[in-house]
Amino acid sequence: MSVNETLIVYATKSGATEEYASMIEKVLRDKFGLEVDVVNLRKNKKPDFTPYSNVIIGSGVRRGKWYGEAKKFLDNDFGDRKVAIFLASRRAGIPEMCNEAVKNYITDVLAKHPHIKPVAAEAFGGIKKNKKERIILDLRDPAKAKTWTEELGKKTRKISYYLF
Ligand SMILES: Cc1cc2nc3c(=O)[nH]c(=O)nc-3n(C[C@H](O)[C@H](O)[C@H](O)COP(=O)(O)O)c2cc1C
Repeated sequence: MSVNETLIVYATKSGATEEYASMIEKVLRDKFGLEVDVVNLRKNKKPDFTPYSNVIIGSGVRRGKWYGEAKKFLDNDFGDRKVAIFLASRRAGIPEMCNEAVKNYITDVLAKHPHIKPVAAEAFGGIKKNKKERIILDLRDPAKAKTWTEELGKKTRKISYYLF
């Protein structure tokens, strides 16, 4: 019998959100012993989250907006599952712009989805690539993602079950 604890879904275009999803997965597995599945919403737009007790949703931001698949996923009713949100954005990686990124891309978006009360939500720095797909600006912050996930891990729900 398998128990699904945590689902991480993400939408990415340049790859930063995918990397954060992998970092978060690793910390939850290695430090908290959680079972974690990771789904790229571009490949599977409607993953079944119902077997999971924790749902973590990640998106990149372009032109002030979440990527469509991730935004649509927010419309789901997650019931009493623990939900967490993370983003990758250029502004989030610039200290003097980070608060503005959190307001515009998290606070304002969640205000339009009042049914979601995340246990944690954070914006992380992203990347910029040139036309040849080479990274020309790297604002990724793995240390911030690790610290955030360590706090998140304490709030996630672990399913315990017994065999009689
Ligand atoms: C066309 C374009 C528009 C962007 N618009 C924004 C923006 O409005 N705000 C922001 O903070 N970052 C913006 N960025 C930077 C992205 O947020 C950054 O590339 C991030 O890594 C995207 O996530 P991803 O790598 O998972 O796709 C933009 C990047 C591109 C290419």
